[in-house]
Amino acid sequence: MRTIIEAQGLTKVYKGGILAVDNVSFTVNEGEIFGFLGPNGAGKSTTIALLTTLLSPTKGTATINGIDITKHAYQARLELGFVSQDLAVEDALTGYDNLRLQAGFYHLTRTEVHDRIAEVLKMVDLTGRAKDKVETYSGGMRKRLDIACGLIHRPRILFLDEPTLGLDIQTRREIWKYVNTLREKNKMTIFLTTHYMDEADSLCDRIAIIDRGVIKTLDTPSALKEAIKNEVPNPTLDDVFLHYTGKEMREDFTSKEESFKARNNIRRARG
Ligand SMILES: Nc1ncnc2c1ncn2[C@@H]1O[C@H](COP(=O)(O)OP(=O)(O)O)[C@@H](O)[C@H]1O
Ligand SMILES: [Mg+2]
Repeated sequence: MRTIIEAQGLTKVYKGGILAVDNVSFTVNEGEIFGFLGPNGAGKSTTIALLTTLLSPTKGTATINGIDITKHAYQARLELGFVSQDLAVEDALTGYDNLRLQAGFYHLTRTEVHDRIAEVLKMVDLTGRAKDKVETYSGGMRKRLDIACGLIHRPRILFLDEPTLGLDIQTRREIWKYVNTLREKNKMTIFLTTHYMDEADSLCDRIAIIDRGVIKTLDTPSALKEAIKNEVPNPTLDDVFLHYTGKEMREDFTSKEESFKARNNIRRARG
């Protein structure tokens, strides 16, 4: 098995002194679906931001397909696609135009742009809806388009931060089906976070559980369950999660700014 991501002592201290990621080391194998699970505020999104070079580490580094992210951020970025937990597609544009905007970030010829767009539309099964405005899409279609935007430069590794958050169960299944196809057909490596334990259990080859910036355990879903069998009979991945992260409740909103934004969204929705 070939290592495609290697994190070495990754550490991120935000301004104000919050230690979000604390000396994290792990490897991801080429072609695997790697799940990164943890409670709210555990450091999942920050780890993804570091690995995708959107943030620089305070200490430590990582390699993406052998490329050091601190020394060669631009080259590393060409190897990876990133789909944020927030939808990035423009409602007022068509699916095709959203993809064309995204393709504009890479030095591609017109023909290449056209071919790449056709290729990614096919990957997420949106070819027939490409000329329609995104505002006419369902939640699942929007997310699929968002994923397609992350694929336009043909990355080897796809980072998906909470790709199914807020979607209904049917749509979640549909998204996971596409994720699985990307791995099977396109031999991509997938690094994902999710709050849905049963879905992580059935989808991921290996899972890391992170809490307060520290990786608590990392193994295959079955080995993770096996390891706590003496404590819980017939454990599920939920049990594994609780075992490593404790039973106390976590704040839903990890920062004042986020809770402020959420309150405002609620007010707008009511108003
Ligand atoms: N831009 C930021 N500035 C300061 N603190 C942040 C920022 N983003 C996240 N944090 C803090 O870092 C910690 C980890 O956050 P995050 O990586 O978003 O966790 P997760 O994705 O697991 O919910 C939390 O305590 C959060 O409040
Ligand atoms: Mg997050």
